Amino acid sequence: SLEGFDHYMLKEIYEQPESIRNAMRGRLDDENATAVFGGLNLTPQQLRSVERIILTGCGTSWHSALVGEYMIEDLARIPVSVEYASELRYRNPPIDNNTLIFGITQSGETADTLAALKETKRKGHRTLAICNVVGSSIAQAADGGVYLHAGPEIGVASTKAYTSQCCVLAMLSLYFGRLRHVSFESGQRIINELRQLPAAVQQALACDEQVRDVAKKYQDASTVLYLGRQYNFPTALEGALKLKEISYIHAEGYPAAEMKHGPIALVDEHTPSVFIIPRGTTYDKVMANMEEVKARGGPVIALASRDNPEVESIADDVIHVPEVPGFTQPIVNVVPLQLLSYHIALLRGCDVDKPRNLAKSVTVE
Ligand code: F6R
Repeated sequence: SLEGFDHYMLKEIYEQPESIRNAMRGRLDDENATAVFGGLNLTPQQLRSVERIILTGCGTSWHSALVGEYMIEDLARIPVSVEYASELRYRNPPIDNNTLIFGITQSGETADTLAALKETKRKGHRTLAICNVVGSSIAQAADGGVYLHAGPEIGVASTKAYTSQCCVLAMLSLYFGRLRHVSFESGQRIINELRQLPAAVQQALACDEQVRDVAKKYQDASTVLYLGRQYNFPTALEGALKLKEISYIHAEGYPAAEMKHGPIALVDEHTPSVFIIPRGTTYDKVMANMEEVKARGGPVIALASRDNPEVESIADDVIHVPEVPGFTQPIVNVVPLQLLSYHIALLRGCDVDKPRNLAKSVTVE
């Protein structure tokens, strides 16, 4: 039921502190400063010997795969590639021994993701699922995996499943890191940072009022650009996808530095750019990109840390996000963007939970 919310999407956005808590429940092992998973069905020795990881999925789940790439690289130092399941299934890429394939999916029924996993499994590779729906086709087809425990996601636009996927990928990164070079102390620090996530997401939800104002101002835009770097690049893609899906506004996500290689030509006074610009690595660089857009007359909406006069002086609108460590930023920073797409869609009179042309699970190619 809607439990007092106007739409499932909004309810599911607001459930995120709890769904993230559920994704972590019983999986953080303080004694060993690592994560534990019941269903990987592989021995620590087998997991230790993994030399490469392929993450595959579609749509929003493909975006969480991109987040996973940054996390695994960063925390576990294992080479990762991210593949669209629809492409992977018909390609014939050479895959080394000791490659582990993860299919990422909310529904567990996406035809392309299922086919990609079956194809890699047929070739003898180990395949695991990161999946929400228990007992779904993909959960059954994989050798093992991790459930999200996010509860049913009814809104067609994926929200809580996405943040839970990112959270599971962060825990997997910790786990793989602790099988290798990550020290006990660093493992503890990562656990503590993960534990702070539900509260940080709760805080991010408090931006709803600010987001509403921004939505009112930009509801008639015909193109919106989303820009971020490193951990915030997949967030830019996901923010753009959410807006496209439910408000039918054309949106594009880019790594902020790619702007000058083409998309900046789109910038004019009618084309707002959303910059995801928390303090941290590449902050100064993204700041420079923001100034470039401003100099060309483009309206700038910044998702930034609190008390940042530098950002406030340039951006037309600022949405405040709590300051969290890099690898947890994707989980926190996507929240205001989910809300932004929700409010814009609502103002435009769109059917938020059932956008045109889309289905909750895509069981055909
Ligand atoms: C976006 C969205 C889709 C799905 C995609 C994969 O909001 O809902 O892009 O993410 O169809 O679906 P799953 O995760 O069920 O495999």
